[in-house]
Amino acid sequence: MPIDVDPNDLIHPNNYGLAGQPHDTWTKLRAEAPVFYCDTDYCEPFYAITRHADIMDISGKPGIFSNIEGPTVFTPAQRRMRENRDGTGFGNMKTIIEMDPPKHREFRKVASGFFTPRNIHHLDDIVAECAREQVDKLGREGETDFVEAIAQRHPLRVLGTILGVEREDEDLMLRLTQELFASEDPDLQRAGEDREAASASLGADFMQLFTRIIQDRRANPRDDLASLLANAKMEDGSPMGPIETFGYFLIVFTAGHDTTRNAISGGMQALLEHPDQLAKLCANPDLSKSAVEEIVRWTSPVNYMKRYLLEDVELNGVQMRRGEQLAMFYGSANRDEKVFDRPFEFDITRHPNRHLGFGTGEHFCLGAHVARLSSRALFLELARRIEVMEPAGDPTHIASSFVVGLKTLPIRYRLRPAA
Ligand code: HEM
Repeated sequence: MPIDVDPNDLIHPNNYGLAGQPHDTWTKLRAEAPVFYCDTDYCEPFYAITRHADIMDISGKPGIFSNIEGPTVFTPAQRRMRENRDGTGFGNMKTIIEMDPPKHREFRKVASGFFTPRNIHHLDDIVAECAREQVDKLGREGETDFVEAIAQRHPLRVLGTILGVEREDEDLMLRLTQELFASEDPDLQRAGEDREAASASLGADFMQLFTRIIQDRRANPRDDLASLLANAKMEDGSPMGPIETFGYFLIVFTAGHDTTRNAISGGMQALLEHPDQLAKLCANPDLSKSAVEEIVRWTSPVNYMKRYLLEDVELNGVQMRRGEQLAMFYGSANRDEKVFDRPFEFDITRHPNRHLGFGTGEHFCLGAHVARLSSRALFLELARRIEVMEPAGDPTHIASSFVVGLKTLPIRYRLRPAA
């Protein structure tokens, strides 16, 4: 029997803009069609993978399930732009999320030492100070949009610090990142330009900013990721090429910003919708560690990652062919009833919590420890300071099916001064 599911629910940005993640559809697919062929007018056809076990399996086999076609499914316009690449400029930036081993491992190694938990520990004081500063800015009481005031500013400052973006360039960086990710969302697109022109001018702005930072860090290296990337050498001792160096700046900033912002805003929304959990966190701020894991499971800001098949493969009785593509829906895997007790309950003390919000295997999120550290610092600060926090209107969603989350979250609050 054909299953009654509209594939647009899974992938069309407008559906995410209207309703958020399609949990009812995913639940049905996990039970009845865990490898589901999606052919829509919106993008190239793909198989939707919705079970936790299948995503674990696929992510462990980069030799079969490749990243060379990039992390997202292509619309016809995106495919055209990819085919028209001329070997220069923004569209040609190669980032590690588009590489397979052995090249992927060599390039990932350039920055992986920086991202170890031990090294990231050096950022403890910076993220704590940044969290305090953001919460201080709210004042004692009032109403605000939590996304604008807190959720997007905090990761921006943390990433800006490790990537050498000066404070006066933070607004520029924020706008560029939003335009890059939310190219489908009419409120966030570049005004007055068609898609291809917008992408070219966006690329030029990114390159200009990164070129300034790279030149500075070559002349005056410091103890930060920007200096490491600007001066990186490959295994054979040659300097990392310009396209790859730009690509690294781009992937770290873009992969790190919207994802963490959406985890923080979605986490606050979940706490507001579950006041018992908010009260628990405020009574015991040290729970911010397990709370952040549950928040990443609950929100799954990276909604899916694409893989491209290098061989024919049969999965759950479905025959997929070489050259076809699939999308692994982390938001679905993170509610898989075969892995999680009470998957639709938001529980900040959940243990164990084997969520796939940061992916798994070869491309496991390089910045997971930064994301954890900075989100924990913010929820710790909030938990210590909140006297009252409640919704002050309906939240709205970003029209995107890749990095998903809230566009606005109106809140009303009363806070204690910093200790
Ligand atoms: C809550 C926040 C975040 C979430 C949910 C998230 C999620 C993910 C996911 C699902 C992947 C792909 C994993 C796979 O394909 O198996 C990924 C890759 C990546 N993430 Fe994150 N991420 C977050 C924050 C960050 C931050 C803060 C940074 C940088 C500071 C970062 C840098 C990267 C990079 C560079 C990759 C590519 C890794 C590779 O291809 O080897 N992410 N992330």
